[in-house]
Amino acid sequence: TSSHGTGPFIAAIDQGTTSSRCIVFDKDGRIVAVDQKEHEQIFPKPGWVEHDAAEIWTNVQEVVAGAIHKAGITAADVKAIGITNQRETTLLWDKNTGEPVHNAIVWQDTRTDALCKELGRNVGQDRFRRETGLPLASYFAGPKARWLLDNVESLRERAERGDILFGTMDSWVIWNLTGGTDGGVHVTDVTNASRTMLMNLHTMEWDDKILQSMEVPAAILPEIRSSAEVYGTAKGGALDGVPVASALGDQQAALFGQTCFAKGEAKSTYGTGTFMLMNTGDQPVNSYNGLLTTVGYRIGDQKAVYALEGSIAVTGSLVQWMRDQMGLINSAAEIETLALSVEDNGGAYFVPAFSGLFAPYWRSDARGVIAGLTRYVTKAHIARAVLEATAWQTREITDAMTKDSGVELTALKVDGGMTSNNLLMQTLSDFLDAPVVRPMVAETTCLGAAYAAGLAVGFWPDTDALRANWRRAAEWTPRMEADRREREYKSWLKAVERTMGWLD
Ligand code: G3P
Repeated sequence: TSSHGTGPFIAAIDQGTTSSRCIVFDKDGRIVAVDQKEHEQIFPKPGWVEHDAAEIWTNVQEVVAGAIHKAGITAADVKAIGITNQRETTLLWDKNTGEPVHNAIVWQDTRTDALCKELGRNVGQDRFRRETGLPLASYFAGPKARWLLDNVESLRERAERGDILFGTMDSWVIWNLTGGTDGGVHVTDVTNASRTMLMNLHTMEWDDKILQSMEVPAAILPEIRSSAEVYGTAKGGALDGVPVASALGDQQAALFGQTCFAKGEAKSTYGTGTFMLMNTGDQPVNSYNGLLTTVGYRIGDQKAVYALEGSIAVTGSLVQWMRDQMGLINSAAEIETLALSVEDNGGAYFVPAFSGLFAPYWRSDARGVIAGLTRYVTKAHIARAVLEATAWQTREITDAMTKDSGVELTALKVDGGMTSNNLLMQTLSDFLDAPVVRPMVAETTCLGAAYAAGLAVGFWPDTDALRANWRRAAEWTPRMEADRREREYKSWLKAVERTMGWLD
């Protein structure tokens, strides 16, 4: 039985890069129960990353049942389900059998590097930026779909015949949740659609011209809906009969969960990668400094809210790599103790360009480097360089945000798994020369999805009610001398240069 009263509740499903989870929230935005399950990371070749979408759907069903069980409630106590997800990860499946035609191609995957270069030939990387807000890069979903259509035998024919559905993980989860082959709804929301490179940011519709250039048939695409409305009803499983009432890409969900509802408010989420989003109000703002223009959220038929985004591909996954591939630590938490055993980085800089470099460079041809090595350097210095990499990459993005928006950073709202690392948070504040603040509920991604779903069904009246739930839990303030910061930043930028053009 639950200690959180009698409800009702909202359930949020977060289909993330490394795991799927379900969290049950009460009316105050407090966590009632959590269940989580990791899925396999498949690395078939250097630069390739895949997920088994069938495994993911099984895990989603399990964590939903797990969270409902732990909360000690039933579907009748749940007013709505919210969905949030790793963005850009691309799946094509057969609508008659419900079977994926291939593993999902994960957002970190660089296999479309050559295709993106080809698409930008003579015109440049910004070919579709005006329509989509995005530079041509292997990160986005459209080119991944094109790759599948070109490389999976007879897939294009099947797609043109109308037997194939395309989706990012929101679409996959919602389609299955609402019945799959038995009447599942094929939808996506504006935030996820804005990462395909196929949606026009201004009209919020699929862009015919881009579909043509990208050779993606319109027949496979989901319907684009708002981020907060009832798409359908769960069929079967632990939440049978509950309305599915929101979908947001995980980073946009975190923006929502951090209650960044006003223009100029921003958050940065430290997960597998790190993503900083700033609310820019009801107009898309063009970036001239390597950021993305994206949809922040859209509640029902209200105006869409746009955001500027700085995306970093590798942060938490670098710590995982240190643990799983290098064996230098036994647990992710150990990176902090190891780093604390030395005073500084010993001259070493680690640029984890494992998936190329995202913002502000957008270089799919970059690869990781450790620079500044001498015989003096120990694994503890490398541990420090690992944490500093996350902080410097954030600094590069806040610099770009300041240039694009003209707004000076006064404080950074953070969330995500890595924010439990104190040394990292202090380093971040030092490198940014600004305070870093973390809210009480660090699970802002699920919270955002729950908020949007709750708004859609009237569980919460409006965004003001949500704001009242935001409470500060921790704050770090800068302690580093300006001289040292600038010297270190220069060395970092030099190391970044060494990563570029590696594949030439
Ligand atoms: O764009 C990729 C992003 O949505 C992945 O987020 O939290 O799974 O690293 P996360």
